[in-house]
Amino acid sequence: MLTSLKLAQTGGQCELTREQIALRRAALFETIIDSMTEHVLVVDRTGAVIFGNKSQRKHLDGAPAPRTREEWEEAYAIHTADGSRKLEFSEWPLNRALRGDFIESIELRARFPGQSDNFFLLSSRPLIDETTGQIEGAIFVSRDITAMRRTEEELRHSQKLETIGQLTGGIAHDFNNVLAAVLNSSEVLARAVVGDEKLERAAATIEKAALRGAELTRHLLAFARHQTLSPKPIDLASFLTDALMLIRPAIGAMIEIDVEVQHGLHAFADPVQLTTALLNLCVNARDAMSGVGELTIRICETEGLVEICVADTGCGMSPEVRERAVEPFFTTKEVGKGSGLGLSMVYGFAQQSGGNLRIESKPGAGARITLALPKAAAPAPVAISAAPPTLPVSPMRVLIVDDDAMVREALKLHLSSAGFQTTTAADGPEAIALIEAGLEFDLLFTDMVMPRGMTGLALAEKLRERRPEIRVIVSTGYVEDDLPEAGPNWLLLRKPYSSNELFGAIRRLILTGS
Ligand SMILES: Nc1ncnc2c1ncn2[C@@H]1O[C@H](COP(=O)(O)OP(=O)(O)OP(=O)(O)O)[C@@H](O)[C@H]1O
Ligand SMILES: [Mg+2]
Repeated sequence: MLTSLKLAQTGGQCELTREQIALRRAALFETIIDSMTEHVLVVDRTGAVIFGNKSQRKHLDGAPAPRTREEWEEAYAIHTADGSRKLEFSEWPLNRALRGDFIESIELRARFPGQSDNFFLLSSRPLIDETTGQIEGAIFVSRDITAMRRTEEELRHSQKLETIGQLTGGIAHDFNNVLAAVLNSSEVLARAVVGDEKLERAAATIEKAALRGAELTRHLLAFARHQTLSPKPIDLASFLTDALMLIRPAIGAMIEIDVEVQHGLHAFADPVQLTTALLNLCVNARDAMSGVGELTIRICETEGLVEICVADTGCGMSPEVRERAVEPFFTTKEVGKGSGLGLSMVYGFAQQSGGNLRIESKPGAGARITLALPKAAAPAPVAISAAPPTLPVSPMRVLIVDDDAMVREALKLHLSSAGFQTTTAADGPEAIALIEAGLEFDLLFTDMVMPRGMTGLALAEKLRERRPEIRVIVSTGYVEDDLPEAGPNWLLLRKPYSSNELFGAIRRLILTGS
Protein backbone atom coordinates (compact mmCIF):
# COMPACT_ATOMS: atom_id res chain seq x y z
CA MET A 1 0.00 0.00 0.00
CA LEU A 2 2.76 2.43 0.95
CA THR A 3 4.57 1.95 -2.37
CA SER A 4 1.44 2.55 -4.42
CA LEU A 5 0.61 5.69 -2.38
CA LYS A 6 4.16 6.99 -2.77
CA LEU A 7 4.09 6.37 -6.53
CA ALA A 8 0.75 8.12 -6.85
CA GLN A 9 2.05 11.13 -4.92
CA THR A 10 5.20 11.46 -7.03
CA GLY A 11 3.29 11.06 -10.33
CA GLY A 12 4.91 7.68 -11.05
CA GLN A 13 3.34 4.90 -13.04
CA CYS A 14 0.30 3.72 -11.19
CA GLU A 15 -3.03 2.32 -12.15
CA LEU A 16 -4.90 3.50 -9.06
CA THR A 17 -7.77 5.93 -9.42
CA ARG A 18 -7.93 9.07 -7.25
CA GLU A 19 -10.74 7.47 -5.30
CA GLN A 20 -8.70 4.37 -4.57
CA ILE A 21 -5.80 6.51 -3.46
CA ALA A 22 -8.05 8.47 -1.12
CA LEU A 23 -9.43 5.26 0.35
CA ARG A 24 -6.00 3.75 0.88
CA ARG A 25 -4.79 6.93 2.45
CA ALA A 26 -7.74 6.97 4.86
CA ALA A 27 -7.01 3.34 5.77
CA LEU A 28 -3.36 4.18 6.40
CA PHE A 29 -4.26 7.11 8.69
CA GLU A 30 -6.72 4.96 10.60
CA THR A 31 -4.03 2.32 11.13
CA ILE A 32 -1.65 5.00 12.40
CA ILE A 33 -4.23 6.51 14.71
CA ASP A 34 -5.28 3.10 16.04
CA SER A 35 -1.70 2.21 16.87
CA MET A 36 -1.33 5.26 19.14
CA THR A 37 -1.40 4.76 22.90
CA GLU A 38 -3.03 8.19 23.23
CA HIS A 39 -6.80 8.38 23.10
CA VAL A 40 -8.05 10.25 20.06
CA LEU A 41 -11.63 11.44 20.15
CA VAL A 42 -13.65 13.63 17.79
CA VAL A 43 -17.10 14.95 18.68
CA ASP A 44 -19.58 17.13 16.81
CA ARG A 45 -21.11 20.35 18.12
CA THR A 46 -23.73 18.45 20.13
CA GLY A 47 -21.10 16.31 21.88
CA ALA A 48 -21.89 13.14 19.91
CA VAL A 49 -18.83 11.00 19.12
CA ILE A 50 -17.84 11.05 15.43
CA PHE A 51 -14.63 9.12 15.87
CA GLY A 52 -12.73 7.34 18.61
CA ASN A 53 -9.48 5.44 18.05
CA LYS A 54 -8.74 1.98 19.42
CA SER A 55 -7.23 3.28 22.71
CA GLN A 56 -10.28 5.44 23.25
CA ARG A 57 -12.64 2.52 22.62
CA LYS A 58 -10.56 0.31 24.94
CA HIS A 59 -10.74 2.98 27.61
CA LEU A 60 -14.55 2.91 27.43
CA ASP A 61 -14.35 -0.87 27.75
CA GLY A 62 -17.44 -1.53 25.63
CA ALA A 63 -19.59 1.05 27.42
CA PRO A 64 -21.46 3.42 25.09
CA ALA A 65 -19.86 6.85 24.83
CA PRO A 66 -21.96 9.81 26.01
CA ARG A 67 -24.10 11.11 23.13
CA THR A 68 -24.73 14.68 24.17
CA ARG A 69 -22.89 17.38 26.09
CA GLU A 70 -25.28 16.86 28.98
CA GLU A 71 -24.44 13.16 29.05
CA TRP A 72 -20.72 14.03 29.14
CA GLU A 73 -21.35 16.30 32.08
CA GLU A 74 -23.21 13.54 33.91
CA ALA A 75 -20.65 10.82 33.21
CA TYR A 76 -17.50 12.65 34.33
CA ALA A 77 -16.39 14.94 37.12
CA ILE A 78 -13.32 16.83 35.96
CA HIS A 79 -10.99 18.37 38.52
CA THR A 80 -7.75 20.28 38.42
CA ALA A 81 -4.68 18.01 38.53
CA ASP A 82 -4.14 18.50 42.27
CA GLY A 83 -7.79 17.63 42.89
CA SER A 84 -8.40 20.90 44.73
CA ARG A 85 -11.12 22.26 42.44
CA LYS A 86 -13.88 20.81 40.29
CA LEU A 87 -14.07 22.47 36.87
CA GLU A 88 -17.27 24.25 35.89
CA PHE A 89 -18.78 22.61 32.80
CA SER A 90 -18.07 25.76 30.80
CA GLU A 91 -14.36 25.34 31.59
CA TRP A 92 -14.21 21.79 30.26
CA PRO A 93 -11.90 21.28 27.24
CA LEU A 94 -15.02 20.10 25.35
CA ASN A 95 -16.75 23.45 25.71
CA ARG A 96 -13.57 25.49 25.33
CA ALA A 97 -12.74 23.72 22.05
CA LEU A 98 -16.27 24.28 20.78
CA ARG A 99 -15.77 27.98 21.55
CA GLY A 100 -12.59 27.96 19.44
CA ASP A 101 -9.87 27.56 22.13
CA PHE A 102 -6.75 25.52 21.50
CA ILE A 103 -5.42 23.69 24.58
CA GLU A 104 -1.88 22.29 24.78
CA SER A 105 -1.08 19.50 27.24
CA ILE A 106 -3.20 20.34 30.24
CA GLU A 107 -3.26 17.86 33.14
CA LEU A 108 -6.65 16.97 34.59
CA ARG A 109 -8.05 14.57 37.13
CA ALA A 110 -11.21 12.61 36.29
CA ARG A 111 -13.32 11.37 39.16
CA PHE A 112 -15.82 8.52 38.81
CA PRO A 113 -18.20 7.60 41.61
CA GLY A 114 -16.82 4.72 43.73
CA GLN A 115 -13.48 4.59 41.88
CA SER A 116 -10.09 6.07 42.44
CA ASP A 117 -9.15 9.15 40.41
CA ASN A 118 -7.66 8.96 36.93
CA PHE A 119 -5.12 11.46 35.57
CA PHE A 120 -5.05 12.67 31.98
CA LEU A 121 -2.72 14.82 29.94
CA LEU A 122 -4.92 16.36 27.28
CA SER A 123 -4.71 18.57 24.21
CA SER A 124 -7.76 19.74 22.34
CA ARG A 125 -8.70 22.00 19.47
CA PRO A 126 -11.79 22.94 17.50
CA LEU A 127 -12.69 20.98 14.36
CA ILE A 128 -13.13 23.65 11.69
CA ASP A 129 -14.94 23.22 8.36
CA GLU A 130 -12.36 24.25 5.75
CA THR A 131 -14.92 25.71 3.37
CA THR A 132 -17.20 27.59 5.76
CA GLY A 133 -14.70 28.30 8.55
CA GLN A 134 -17.38 27.22 11.02
CA ILE A 135 -16.61 25.17 14.15
CA GLU A 136 -18.10 21.74 13.53
CA GLY A 137 -16.91 19.95 16.58
CA ALA A 138 -13.77 19.26 18.66
CA ILE A 139 -10.73 17.00 18.59
CA PHE A 140 -9.10 15.61 21.73
CA VAL A 141 -5.83 13.76 22.17
CA SER A 142 -5.25 12.56 25.68
CA ARG A 143 -2.88 10.23 27.52
CA ASP A 144 -3.77 8.28 30.66
CA ILE A 145 -0.96 9.08 33.14
CA THR A 146 -2.66 7.55 36.18
CA ALA A 147 -0.05 4.81 36.74
CA MET A 148 2.78 7.34 36.53
CA ARG A 149 1.09 9.71 39.00
CA ARG A 150 0.37 6.86 41.44
CA THR A 151 4.02 5.77 41.43
CA GLU A 152 5.07 9.38 42.00
CA GLU A 153 2.55 9.74 44.82
CA GLU A 154 3.81 6.56 46.51
CA LEU A 155 7.39 7.74 46.19
CA ARG A 156 6.51 11.13 47.64
CA HIS A 157 4.66 9.46 50.49
CA SER A 158 7.55 7.16 51.39
CA GLN A 159 10.02 10.07 51.12
CA LYS A 160 7.81 12.09 53.45
CA LEU A 161 7.71 9.23 55.98
CA GLU A 162 11.47 8.82 55.66
CA THR A 163 12.00 12.51 56.44
CA ILE A 164 9.60 12.47 59.39
CA GLY A 165 11.38 9.30 60.56
CA GLN A 166 14.77 10.96 60.53
CA LEU A 167 13.43 13.98 62.35
CA THR A 168 11.56 12.02 65.03
CA GLY A 169 14.47 9.61 65.46
CA GLY A 170 16.85 12.49 66.11
CA ILE A 171 14.52 14.20 68.55
CA ALA A 172 13.69 10.96 70.34
CA HIS A 173 17.36 10.08 70.90
CA ASP A 174 18.18 13.44 72.45
CA PHE A 175 14.95 13.50 74.36
CA ASN A 176 15.65 10.09 75.84
CA ASN A 177 18.89 11.37 77.35
CA VAL A 178 17.05 14.32 78.86
CA LEU A 179 14.42 11.97 80.29
CA ALA A 180 17.01 9.60 81.72
CA ALA A 181 18.50 12.51 83.65
CA VAL A 182 15.06 13.62 84.88
CA LEU A 183 14.13 10.09 85.94
CA ASN A 184 17.37 9.45 87.78
CA SER A 185 17.18 12.77 89.62
CA SER A 186 13.53 12.32 90.50
CA GLU A 187 14.36 9.01 92.17
CA VAL A 188 17.05 10.68 94.28
CA LEU A 189 14.63 13.50 95.03
CA ALA A 190 11.87 11.07 96.02
CA ARG A 191 14.14 9.40 98.58
CA ALA A 192 15.30 12.73 100.00
CA VAL A 193 11.82 14.10 100.59
CA VAL A 194 10.24 11.09 102.33
CA GLY A 195 7.96 12.39 105.07
CA ASP A 196 7.10 15.69 103.42
CA GLU A 197 3.80 14.87 101.79
CA LYS A 198 3.71 17.85 99.45
CA LEU A 199 7.22 17.29 98.11
CA GLU A 200 6.66 13.53 97.87
CA ARG A 201 3.68 14.25 95.62
CA ALA A 202 5.73 16.65 93.52
CA ALA A 203 8.54 14.09 93.11
CA ALA A 204 6.00 11.43 92.15
CA THR A 205 4.50 13.77 89.54
CA ILE A 206 7.90 14.46 88.01
CA GLU A 207 8.56 10.76 87.78
CA LYS A 208 5.15 9.99 86.30
CA ALA A 209 5.54 12.69 83.66
CA ALA A 210 9.03 11.51 82.75
CA LEU A 211 7.83 7.90 82.45
CA ARG A 212 5.05 9.04 80.13
CA GLY A 213 7.65 10.95 78.11
CA ALA A 214 9.80 7.83 77.94
CA GLU A 215 6.84 5.85 76.64
CA LEU A 216 6.23 8.39 73.88
CA THR A 217 9.88 8.43 72.85
CA ARG A 218 9.87 4.62 72.70
CA HIS A 219 7.07 4.81 70.12
CA LEU A 220 8.92 7.52 68.20
CA LEU A 221 12.07 5.42 68.10
CA ALA A 222 9.98 2.50 66.87
CA PHE A 223 8.60 4.63 64.04
CA ALA A 224 12.05 5.93 63.17
CA ARG A 225 13.31 2.33 63.01
CA HIS A 226 15.80 3.02 65.76
CA GLN A 227 14.55 0.71 68.46
CA THR A 228 16.62 -2.18 69.67
CA LEU A 229 15.12 -5.33 68.24
CA SER A 230 15.92 -8.90 69.20
CA PRO A 231 14.51 -10.90 66.31
CA LYS A 232 14.17 -14.66 66.56
CA PRO A 233 12.07 -17.33 64.85
CA ILE A 234 8.49 -17.16 66.13
CA ASP A 235 6.04 -20.00 65.70
CA LEU A 236 3.09 -17.84 64.73
CA ALA A 237 0.33 -20.29 65.67
CA SER A 238 1.45 -20.61 69.25
CA PHE A 239 2.44 -16.94 69.34
CA LEU A 240 -1.15 -16.04 68.50
CA THR A 241 -2.54 -18.34 71.19
CA ASP A 242 -0.48 -16.47 73.76
CA ALA A 243 -1.13 -13.04 72.28
CA LEU A 244 -4.88 -13.68 72.41
CA MET A 245 -4.62 -13.81 76.19
CA LEU A 246 -3.71 -10.13 76.03
CA ILE A 247 -5.91 -9.17 73.08
CA ARG A 248 -9.13 -10.65 74.46
CA PRO A 249 -9.24 -8.50 77.61
CA ALA A 250 -8.05 -5.44 75.67
CA ILE A 251 -10.87 -5.43 73.14
CA GLY A 252 -13.81 -6.31 75.35
CA ALA A 253 -16.46 -9.01 75.29
CA MET A 254 -18.70 -7.53 72.59
CA ILE A 255 -16.21 -8.13 69.79
CA GLU A 256 -16.15 -11.55 68.22
CA ILE A 257 -12.67 -12.80 67.31
CA ASP A 258 -12.26 -15.03 64.31
CA VAL A 259 -8.89 -16.68 63.82
CA GLU A 260 -7.56 -18.29 60.64
CA VAL A 261 -4.05 -19.65 61.02
CA GLN A 262 -1.92 -21.53 58.57
CA HIS A 263 0.08 -23.84 60.83
CA GLY A 264 3.81 -24.35 60.74
CA LEU A 265 4.57 -20.72 59.78
CA HIS A 266 7.48 -18.96 61.44
CA ALA A 267 8.28 -15.26 61.31
CA PHE A 268 11.71 -13.84 62.03
CA ALA A 269 11.01 -10.86 64.30
CA ASP A 270 11.14 -9.48 67.80
CA PRO A 271 8.36 -11.30 69.71
CA VAL A 272 7.77 -8.54 72.27
CA GLN A 273 7.42 -5.83 69.62
CA LEU A 274 5.26 -8.12 67.52
CA THR A 275 2.87 -8.51 70.44
CA THR A 276 2.75 -4.74 70.89
CA ALA A 277 2.14 -4.29 67.16
CA LEU A 278 -0.65 -6.85 67.07
CA LEU A 279 -2.20 -5.37 70.18
CA ASN A 280 -2.09 -1.89 68.60
CA LEU A 281 -3.86 -3.18 65.49
CA CYS A 282 -6.54 -4.92 67.55
CA VAL A 283 -7.11 -1.87 69.75
CA ASN A 284 -7.50 0.29 66.63
CA ALA A 285 -10.01 -2.23 65.29
CA ARG A 286 -11.90 -2.12 68.59
CA ASP A 287 -12.07 1.67 68.46
CA ALA A 288 -13.17 1.65 64.82
CA MET A 289 -16.03 -0.72 65.73
CA SER A 290 -16.97 1.28 68.85
CA GLY A 291 -16.53 -1.90 70.86
CA VAL A 292 -19.03 -4.04 68.87
CA GLY A 293 -18.31 -6.10 65.77
CA GLU A 294 -16.15 -8.79 64.29
CA LEU A 295 -12.36 -8.97 64.31
CA THR A 296 -10.56 -11.41 62.05
CA ILE A 297 -6.91 -12.30 62.54
CA ARG A 298 -5.45 -14.23 59.64
CA ILE A 299 -1.95 -15.63 59.42
CA CYS A 300 -0.76 -16.90 56.07
CA GLU A 301 2.20 -17.02 53.75
CA THR A 302 3.04 -15.02 50.64
CA GLU A 303 6.16 -14.71 48.51
CA GLY A 304 8.96 -15.06 51.04
CA LEU A 305 6.99 -13.29 53.77
CA VAL A 306 4.46 -14.24 56.39
CA GLU A 307 1.40 -12.03 56.74
CA ILE A 308 -0.54 -11.21 59.85
CA CYS A 309 -3.75 -9.62 58.75
CA VAL A 310 -6.15 -7.86 61.13
CA ALA A 311 -9.55 -7.06 59.63
CA ASP A 312 -12.50 -5.38 61.28
CA THR A 313 -16.07 -4.46 60.50
CA GLY A 314 -15.66 -0.90 61.74
CA CYS A 315 -16.09 2.58 60.33
CA GLY A 316 -13.20 2.29 57.85
CA MET A 317 -10.98 5.11 56.62
CA SER A 318 -11.31 7.79 54.00
CA PRO A 319 -8.47 7.89 51.44
CA GLU A 320 -7.02 10.95 53.24
CA VAL A 321 -6.97 9.19 56.63
CA ARG A 322 -5.58 5.99 55.07
CA GLU A 323 -2.76 7.97 53.49
CA ARG A 324 -1.75 9.66 56.73
CA ALA A 325 -2.57 6.88 59.22
CA VAL A 326 1.05 5.82 59.87
CA GLU A 327 2.37 9.34 60.40
CA PRO A 328 3.36 9.87 64.02
CA PHE A 329 0.81 11.93 65.96
CA PHE A 330 -1.81 11.57 63.25
CA THR A 331 -5.07 10.67 64.96
CA THR A 332 -8.74 11.20 64.28
CA LYS A 333 -9.58 10.42 67.88
CA GLU A 334 -10.62 13.19 70.22
CA VAL A 335 -8.04 14.86 72.42
CA GLY A 336 -6.87 12.51 75.15
CA LYS A 337 -8.19 9.37 73.42
CA GLY A 338 -5.31 8.63 71.08
CA SER A 339 -1.78 9.88 70.62
CA GLY A 340 -1.54 8.80 66.98
CA LEU A 341 1.51 6.66 67.61
CA GLY A 342 0.00 3.17 67.36
CA LEU A 343 0.23 2.62 63.61
CA SER A 344 3.49 4.53 63.31
CA MET A 345 5.02 2.05 65.77
CA VAL A 346 3.65 -0.87 63.74
CA TYR A 347 4.92 0.71 60.49
CA GLY A 348 8.42 1.34 61.89
CA PHE A 349 8.57 -2.14 63.38
CA ALA A 350 7.55 -3.72 60.05
CA GLN A 351 10.13 -1.71 58.12
CA GLN A 352 12.94 -2.27 60.60
CA SER A 353 12.19 -6.00 60.63
CA GLY A 354 12.50 -6.19 56.84
CA GLY A 355 8.77 -6.46 56.21
CA ASN A 356 6.04 -4.00 55.35
CA LEU A 357 2.62 -2.72 56.33
CA ARG A 358 -0.40 -2.54 54.03
CA ILE A 359 -3.61 -0.67 54.79
CA GLU A 360 -6.80 -1.41 52.86
CA SER A 361 -9.93 0.40 53.89
CA LYS A 362 -12.95 2.25 52.64
CA PRO A 363 -15.29 4.49 54.62
CA GLY A 364 -18.05 2.36 56.12
CA ALA A 365 -16.52 -0.88 54.89
CA GLY A 366 -14.09 -1.75 57.70
CA ALA A 367 -10.34 -1.96 57.48
CA ARG A 368 -7.81 -4.65 56.76
CA ILE A 369 -4.27 -4.02 57.99
CA THR A 370 -1.63 -6.48 56.90
CA LEU A 371 1.70 -6.75 58.66
CA ALA A 372 4.17 -8.70 56.55
CA LEU A 373 7.34 -10.03 58.17
CA PRO A 374 10.28 -12.03 56.94
CA LYS A 375 9.82 -15.75 57.08
CA ALA A 376 12.00 -17.87 59.31
CA ALA A 377 12.73 -21.47 58.49
CA ALA A 378 10.80 -23.77 60.80
CA PRO A 379 13.31 -24.77 63.51
CA ALA A 380 12.80 -28.46 64.23
CA PRO A 381 10.09 -30.88 63.13
CA VAL A 382 9.16 -31.34 66.79
CA ALA A 383 8.22 -27.69 67.03
CA ILE A 384 6.05 -27.86 63.92
CA SER A 385 3.96 -30.63 65.36
CA ALA A 386 3.06 -28.41 68.33
CA ALA A 387 -0.61 -28.68 69.17
CA PRO A 388 -2.86 -26.21 67.37
CA PRO A 389 -4.01 -23.33 69.54
CA THR A 390 -7.09 -23.95 71.56
CA LEU A 391 -9.53 -21.09 71.11
CA PRO A 392 -11.19 -19.16 72.58
CA VAL A 393 -8.65 -18.50 75.29
CA SER A 394 -9.63 -17.91 78.90
CA PRO A 395 -8.17 -14.89 80.71
CA MET A 396 -4.83 -15.25 82.43
CA ARG A 397 -4.99 -15.84 86.21
CA VAL A 398 -2.65 -13.85 88.44
CA LEU A 399 -1.81 -14.34 92.10
CA ILE A 400 -0.71 -10.98 93.58
CA VAL A 401 1.35 -11.08 96.77
CA ASP A 402 2.27 -7.82 98.52
CA ASP A 403 2.21 -6.82 102.18
CA ASP A 404 1.21 -3.24 101.37
CA ALA A 405 -2.59 -3.31 101.10
CA MET A 406 -2.66 -0.17 98.97
CA VAL A 407 -0.17 -1.53 96.43
CA ARG A 408 -2.00 -4.87 96.41
CA GLU A 409 -5.38 -3.30 95.73
CA ALA A 410 -4.04 -0.89 93.11
CA LEU A 411 -2.39 -3.76 91.27
CA LYS A 412 -5.51 -5.89 91.53
CA LEU A 413 -7.59 -3.06 90.08
CA HIS A 414 -5.09 -2.42 87.32
CA LEU A 415 -4.78 -6.04 86.24
CA SER A 416 -8.43 -6.91 86.52
CA SER A 417 -9.45 -3.85 84.52
CA ALA A 418 -7.12 -5.17 81.81
CA GLY A 419 -9.06 -8.45 81.85
CA PHE A 420 -6.86 -10.61 84.07
CA GLN A 421 -8.37 -12.79 86.81
CA THR A 422 -6.76 -11.86 90.10
CA THR A 423 -6.38 -13.28 93.62
CA THR A 424 -4.41 -11.53 96.37
CA ALA A 425 -2.37 -12.57 99.39
CA ALA A 426 -0.64 -10.36 101.98
CA ASP A 427 2.58 -12.40 102.30
CA GLY A 428 4.39 -15.63 101.44
CA PRO A 429 2.77 -17.95 104.00
CA GLU A 430 -0.72 -16.71 103.05
CA ALA A 431 0.07 -17.37 99.38
CA ILE A 432 1.34 -20.88 100.19
CA ALA A 433 -1.86 -21.58 102.11
CA LEU A 434 -3.94 -20.53 99.10
CA ILE A 435 -1.89 -22.73 96.78
CA GLU A 436 -2.22 -25.68 99.14
CA ALA A 437 -5.96 -25.12 99.22
CA GLY A 438 -5.96 -25.72 95.44
CA LEU A 439 -5.77 -22.22 93.94
CA GLU A 440 -5.18 -22.37 90.17
CA PHE A 441 -3.20 -19.57 88.50
CA ASP A 442 -0.76 -18.89 85.65
CA LEU A 443 1.36 -16.04 86.96
CA LEU A 444 2.70 -15.13 90.39
CA PHE A 445 3.30 -11.42 90.87
CA THR A 446 5.09 -10.92 94.16
CA ASP A 447 6.82 -8.19 96.08
CA MET A 448 10.43 -8.99 97.09
CA VAL A 449 10.68 -7.84 100.68
CA MET A 450 7.78 -9.06 102.81
CA PRO A 451 7.19 -9.85 106.51
CA ARG A 452 6.76 -13.29 108.17
CA GLY A 453 10.17 -14.50 107.07
CA MET A 454 9.56 -15.23 103.43
CA THR A 455 10.84 -13.07 100.57
CA GLY A 456 9.19 -13.02 97.16
CA LEU A 457 12.09 -14.99 95.76
CA ALA A 458 11.78 -17.65 98.48
CA LEU A 459 8.06 -17.89 97.75
CA ALA A 460 8.79 -18.28 94.05
CA GLU A 461 11.35 -20.99 94.79
CA LYS A 462 8.90 -22.91 96.93
CA LEU A 463 6.23 -22.63 94.28
CA ARG A 464 8.69 -23.70 91.59
CA GLU A 465 9.28 -27.02 93.38
CA ARG A 466 5.62 -27.95 92.88
CA ARG A 467 4.66 -26.05 89.74
CA PRO A 468 7.72 -25.36 87.54
CA GLU A 469 5.56 -24.07 84.67
CA ILE A 470 4.18 -21.09 86.62
CA ARG A 471 5.56 -17.72 85.45
CA VAL A 472 6.82 -15.37 88.15
CA ILE A 473 7.39 -11.63 88.36
CA VAL A 474 9.24 -10.39 91.44
CA SER A 475 9.01 -6.65 91.96
CA THR A 476 11.52 -4.77 94.03
CA GLY A 477 12.09 -1.16 94.98
CA TYR A 478 15.55 -1.75 96.37
CA VAL A 479 18.04 -0.61 93.81
CA GLU A 480 20.96 -2.11 95.71
CA ASP A 481 19.46 -5.61 95.60
CA ASP A 482 22.10 -7.80 94.07
CA LEU A 483 19.64 -9.91 92.14
CA PRO A 484 19.77 -11.40 88.67
CA GLU A 485 17.35 -9.64 86.27
CA ALA A 486 15.69 -12.76 84.90
CA GLY A 487 15.77 -16.52 84.71
CA PRO A 488 13.72 -19.28 83.13
CA ASN A 489 10.05 -18.37 83.54
CA TRP A 490 10.72 -15.47 85.88
CA LEU A 491 11.88 -11.88 85.83
CA LEU A 492 12.54 -8.96 88.07
CA LEU A 493 10.53 -5.77 87.73
CA ARG A 494 12.05 -2.70 89.32
CA LYS A 495 9.76 -0.29 91.12
CA PRO A 496 8.39 2.11 90.14
CA TYR A 497 7.22 0.70 86.88
CA SER A 498 4.91 2.23 84.34
CA SER A 499 1.81 0.41 83.21
CA ASN A 500 3.61 -0.26 79.94
CA GLU A 501 6.57 -1.81 81.72
CA LEU A 502 4.24 -3.96 83.80
CA PHE A 503 2.37 -5.31 80.77
CA GLY A 504 5.62 -5.49 78.82
CA ALA A 505 7.06 -7.76 81.53
CA ILE A 506 3.97 -9.97 81.43
CA ARG A 507 4.21 -10.16 77.64
CA ARG A 508 7.89 -11.08 77.79
CA LEU A 509 7.17 -13.86 80.23
CA ILE A 510 4.30 -15.25 78.20
CA LEU A 511 6.26 -15.13 74.97
CA THR A 512 9.74 -16.15 75.90
CA GLY A 513 9.56 -17.54 79.38
CA SER A 514 12.07 -14.96 80.60
N1 LIG B 1 -8.86 -0.30 62.02
C1 LIG B 1 -9.07 0.99 61.76
N2 LIG B 1 -10.26 1.43 61.24
C2 LIG B 1 -10.46 2.73 61.00
N3 LIG B 1 -9.54 3.70 61.20
C3 LIG B 1 -8.35 3.33 61.70
C4 LIG B 1 -8.05 1.97 62.01
N4 LIG B 1 -6.77 1.93 62.46
C5 LIG B 1 -6.31 3.19 62.45
N5 LIG B 1 -7.25 4.04 62.00
C6 LIG B 1 -7.11 5.49 61.82
O1 LIG B 1 -5.73 5.83 61.85
C7 LIG B 1 -5.49 6.79 62.89
C8 LIG B 1 -4.10 6.57 63.45
O2 LIG B 1 -4.04 5.34 64.16
P1 LIG B 1 -2.95 5.14 65.31
O3 LIG B 1 -3.09 3.78 65.86
O4 LIG B 1 -1.62 5.53 64.76
O5 LIG B 1 -3.33 6.25 66.35
P2 LIG B 1 -4.59 6.29 67.36
O6 LIG B 1 -5.22 4.94 67.45
O7 LIG B 1 -5.43 7.42 66.94
O8 LIG B 1 -3.86 6.63 68.72
P3 LIG B 1 -2.92 5.65 69.60
O9 LIG B 1 -2.82 4.34 68.86
O10 LIG B 1 -1.59 6.32 69.67
O11 LIG B 1 -3.61 5.54 70.88
C9 LIG B 1 -6.62 6.59 63.87
O12 LIG B 1 -6.86 7.77 64.62
C10 LIG B 1 -7.79 6.26 62.94
O13 LIG B 1 -8.31 7.43 62.35
MG1 LIG C 1 -4.04 3.21 67.76
